[in-house]
Amino acid sequence: MGRSQKLKPRAPSERITFEVMTKPLRCMPGPRCWPGVGSTLEYSPLGRYSFDRLHVAKKENFARYGRIYQERMGPAVTLIQVFDPEDVARVLRADGKCPMRPSIPITTVAHKRDGIPLGLGSLNGTDWHDVRKAIHRLMMRPGAAAVYLPVQNSVADDLVSFIMSERKADGFVPNFLNLVTKYAMESIGAVCFKSRLGCLRRNPPQSAQELLRASNDMFTAMQNTAFAFPCIAQRYIANIQENEQSDGDFADCPHFFGTLLETPGVTMERVIGLTSELFIAGIDSWKIPIRPQTANALSFVLYNLSRNPDKQEILRDEISRVLPNRKRLEKADLEEMKYLKACVKESFRLNFPIEGGTTRILAKELELSGYVVPEKTMCLQEQYFDAPEDFIPERWLKSGSGSLRAPPRYVFLPFGYGPRMCIGRRFAEQEIYLAIVKIYQNFRTEYNGDAIGMINRVFTAPDTPIAIKFTKL
Ligand code: HEM
Repeated sequence: MGRSQKLKPRAPSERITFEVMTKPLRCMPGPRCWPGVGSTLEYSPLGRYSFDRLHVAKKENFARYGRIYQERMGPAVTLIQVFDPEDVARVLRADGKCPMRPSIPITTVAHKRDGIPLGLGSLNGTDWHDVRKAIHRLMMRPGAAAVYLPVQNSVADDLVSFIMSERKADGFVPNFLNLVTKYAMESIGAVCFKSRLGCLRRNPPQSAQELLRASNDMFTAMQNTAFAFPCIAQRYIANIQENEQSDGDFADCPHFFGTLLETPGVTMERVIGLTSELFIAGIDSWKIPIRPQTANALSFVLYNLSRNPDKQEILRDEISRVLPNRKRLEKADLEEMKYLKACVKESFRLNFPIEGGTTRILAKELELSGYVVPEKTMCLQEQYFDAPEDFIPERWLKSGSGSLRAPPRYVFLPFGYGPRMCIGRRFAEQEIYLAIVKIYQNFRTEYNGDAIGMINRVFTAPDTPIAIKFTKL
């Protein structure tokens, strides 16, 4: 699109020509910018906001500056916050073959220092493309996650047994988020290592304890310990013959390392790096946060359903209809559970899982809301909806959304978009669906505390422990 745009007149009789003049980026509104530090002072103790409550800053800035605004994050980075679905579409459609996302500098430095190949989340350009190509089919083809259903079914059964045994007389499970973390780890571990790690056992084996410890260390002290994790993963790979389970629930599961290693040009170092990245991303994306990504998302779904008993009943009815007599869940059953999927989506909408997850560095100049945004600028997408504060899964169903507008395209992208979309999406969703189905087959859940807030550390976590009461059905 050029720097000015002529819109066609609406009817031949109305000879009106609209001319929308574009303005340079410097005219775009945004928070005050101080020399050298840009707007970052706003997120310091001197400012109004903090980096772990980015959503608060965005909401207020949206009200202040409108559907597009810029922030200078230090001397070199200009961030454009994009709220308009048409602008979002323009940014994402301009992506090309190798969409660029900013990497986390500390990850890049530490990987280079230790000579460990960078993972998908940190690479850009053709380097990213080559790695993504090697693994894309393995994880994104239809049915890629479904082959793991039998084993992940068993993992979800173990979660329910654990809740049953840990539940106190008052119905609360101590350290619930910790338990969900172990569930996420066990579930993605089955995929990455083709073996059961034993995280959900009352006394986890030594190796599982080491993995739990290493990932915890990684969350809290990344620079120093990030590489303990690949070392432990390497041990799993080295002992693959011993660890691997090929019968029972694992009968039809492909071998992750093996399949990757067969890809031309993929080295052992790359496989170790990638598998570690996926395992870590499976419990937490992009290595900074203190809590697992999928586990946080699952906790928020449970929280929202516990606060909305009427929606919980509708979901339970769907589960009983699709799985009469607690039939074991199969791929076709999941496809039928539209309300389950709507509940998960609605929870993602209310507690958006990654602030700025779908950030793009523009590969070329773009016109957004009448401003010329130069290449290499960073753009973030945002969202807005009817009755935004309410948990209404029905809005995601073709029938049943009542008077609510259908959610517009391009404003709700929890897993990102296009060639750079989350590669673990199918696995994350399957893991969450399974846990929700099993929990609501066995329990009624309640949450009677204060509203839980969100804290952002790249992804969104509850800001206080969620105390959910489980009542056996
Ligand atoms: C609720 C769970 C999850 C959410 C909401 C989520 C969300 C996202 C988002 C928004 C992106 C950026 C996409 C873009 O730029 O367009 C991403 C990237 C990524 N995710 Fe996830 N993710 C989740 C779970 C997982 C899991 C389970 C895995 C691994 C098994 C995973 C692996 C990755 C990787 C490797 C990338 C980088 C992909 C690339 O740059 O090519 N994620 N995720």
